[in-house]
Amino acid sequence: RGVITLDPGYKNTGSCESAITFLDGEKGILRYRGYSIEELAEKADFLEVAYLLIFGELPTKEQNDKFHDDIRAESIVDEDIKKIVDAFPKAAHPMGVIASLTSALTSFNPSSVNVNSEEAMYKSVVRILGKFPVLVAWTFRKKEGLPLDYGDNEIGYVENILKMMFRKPNGEYKQNKILVDALDKLLILHADHEQNCSTSTVRIVGSSHAGLFASLSAGISALWGPLHGGANQAVLEMLEAIKADDGDTKKYMAKAKDKSDPFRLMGFGHRVYKNFDPRAKIIKKAADEVLADLGVEDPILDIAKGLEKEALEDQYFVDRRLYPNVDFYSGIIYRAMGIPTDMFTVMFALGRLPGWIAQWREMRLRKEPIGRPRQVYIGETERKFIPVEER
Ligand code: CMC
Repeated sequence: RGVITLDPGYKNTGSCESAITFLDGEKGILRYRGYSIEELAEKADFLEVAYLLIFGELPTKEQNDKFHDDIRAESIVDEDIKKIVDAFPKAAHPMGVIASLTSALTSFNPSSVNVNSEEAMYKSVVRILGKFPVLVAWTFRKKEGLPLDYGDNEIGYVENILKMMFRKPNGEYKQNKILVDALDKLLILHADHEQNCSTSTVRIVGSSHAGLFASLSAGISALWGPLHGGANQAVLEMLEAIKADDGDTKKYMAKAKDKSDPFRLMGFGHRVYKNFDPRAKIIKKAADEVLADLGVEDPILDIAKGLEKEALEDQYFVDRRLYPNVDFYSGIIYRAMGIPTDMFTVMFALGRLPGWIAQWREMRLRKEPIGRPRQVYIGETERKFIPVEER
């Protein structure tokens, strides 16, 4: 009770206390459970980071092995899910498909909603970590007209994701270590980012004690938007448009600055980072390395670099402290991996999954109250109903 403070977009409102991710937007610092993102991207693998985020510590060898085994044991989904995948039109956006499939998982695993013990919670966590990559691969394979089949439990989690996606109908698949390492790094860099739009969505939906999968599905829908995770798709489309326009970056810079034009420079700006996004720094370097290692020359990378340089020297961007964010270069790496543009945000969701889970788990363990913001009413005062014939 008391005075309501209005803060549209929650620019200055803290919604919770959290021990998961530390972010200093002025200094460009990002740490998961105290470990710098730079060190984790360099030395850890994605599932270790997932364990760290969710359970608070890096796993011991035994914990790591058990975590892998428990996830592997959950890496099949009900065969009836294939019917749902098949029912989507080929042109369906993969983010809509994956959000629906994640929500549908609740129907196939109803016990996952009741998480009143640590054990039940753990079961839901490994279940979704096991099944989500299968849903991602099937979403992709359906679009590509490939058969929906399972992965290879003998290989690593990230390698298996690529194999599930790209294996040919005759079973042929050639592992490429450069791509596996690059994807591992990208997933780590996306794994958590404190109370962003999709994470806040997961926490608020979960705060009503809706199940984990339903909360994640809501988070995926929030991530889809171009101001959030959907920016990675929008960046690539923007770079393609610039390329088709004879590389005229100046024209797009002018559009971004024109207040009568809704166009924004996609992949630029961030609610919290005001000097640089540490993830973007690592990804830019990785994009250079991956393309060089693969021997790919992508003119899109040159356009991106040119655009970045222009924006960083432009007074409009300098005044507003707009820098390239995580989404600016990630699509260039996904593209080099052969991942189609409309799957980019799904790859982001794959990476963000452990963060969403960790935040949901923290919210439940801390027994947070239901999320329910207030408002300032600005509508009509009381008035009398007028029957339709008299209006
Ligand atoms: N291009 C042109 N102008 C911009 C941009 C941009 N990308 N971003 C912000 N601005 C301007 C904005 O018009 C406003 O100008 P003014 O003060 O003259 O009205 C000022 O900068 C502040 O912007 P804001 O919209 O109030 O800032 P916000 O914190 O609400 O929005 C943002 C942050 C990320 C949504 C925004 O910068 C944006 O739309 N960027 C493009 C989309 C994008 O790349 N999103 C990915 C974000 S990082 C990954 C993730 O979240 O998943």
